Amino acid sequence: MTEVLQDIASARKRFRKITRAGTSLGLVPTMGALHEGHLSLVRRAADENDVVAVSVFVNPAQFDDPEDLKRYPRNFEEDRGILESAGTDLVFYPDTGDMYADGYRYKVTEIEDSQFQEGAHRRGFFDGVLTVVLKLLNIVGADRAYFGEKDWQQFNLIRGMAEAFFLNTEIIPCPIIREYDGLAMSSRNARLSSAERELAPAFHRILAGTGSPEDKAARLEDAGFAVDYVEEREGRILGAIHLGKVRLIDNVRI
Ligand code: PAJ
Repeated sequence: MTEVLQDIASARKRFRKITRAGTSLGLVPTMGALHEGHLSLVRRAADENDVVAVSVFVNPAQFDDPEDLKRYPRNFEEDRGILESAGTDLVFYPDTGDMYADGYRYKVTEIEDSQFQEGAHRRGFFDGVLTVVLKLLNIVGADRAYFGEKDWQQFNLIRGMAEAFFLNTEIIPCPIIREYDGLAMSSRNARLSSAERELAPAFHRILAGTGSPEDKAARLEDAGFAVDYVEEREGRILGAIHLGKVRLIDNVRI
C-alpha cells in the first residue's frame, strides 16, 4: 500500500526513520501528470533502492507564465493510483504554502550554464527548479535521486548543485523514454491537437538528423514549428520549439 505524506515535519520524521534503519531510499521528484517517462525513473529507483519515494509537487517558482501554471495538468488521485500500481512505497505531496513558507525569499542561483537555452527562454526557471529540488533533497534525505535526460540542462544543473553544496544524495540520470514514433514523452503532449500530434515526431527526427544546428532550426521552421533554439553543447543537440500553444523540448547525443 502506498503511503501519502503531506505534512513536511511528519514526512521528514518518516524519511529519517527509513534512512537511519540502514534502508536505502530512492527519490523521484515529479510535478505529477505521470506518464511512462516518469515511471521509468520509478522502476530504476526501485531496482537500486529498498524503498522508493516519489514527490508530486507543481512548483510555482519555475513557471514564468501564470497561464502555463494554471493550465498545468493536475490529477493527484490518478497519479496516486499509477504510483500505487508501480509499487511506489511513499508519495510526498506537500502543500505550496508549506514548501514556500519563506515566501520564496531564499533561492538557489547558478550563474553560468543556467543562462543559456531553457534559462534564456524562461525567466527564473532554473532558480525555481534548483530551489525546489534542494528543498526536496533536504526533506527526503534520499541516498539517490533520479532525473530524466529529457531535461538535460536541468539534470546537469542539479548534479552541479549537489556537488557544489556537498549534498548527500547521489544524482542519477535516466534515458529519454519516447512514443513509438520518436516523440519524447511529456505531460504537455496531451495538449497537442491531432494535427499537431501528427507533426510532433518530426521535431525529434530533424534534431537527430544530419546538418548543423542552424540547418536543423531552418528545417524545423519549414516543417511548421516555431523554434526557440537549436544548440550544440557537450556532445548533444538540444532544441526547444512551439507547436501551437504547446512548448516542447528534446535533445539527442551526437
Ligand atoms: P516533471 O516534468 O514532472 O518531470 C519529472 C522527471 O521526469 C524529470 O526528471 C524529467 O526529466 C523526467 N522525465 C519527463 N519526461 C521524461 C521522458 N520522456 N523520459 C525520461 N524522463 C522523463 O522536471 C520536473 O518535473 C521538475 O522540473 C522537477 C525536477 C520535479 C522540479 O520541480
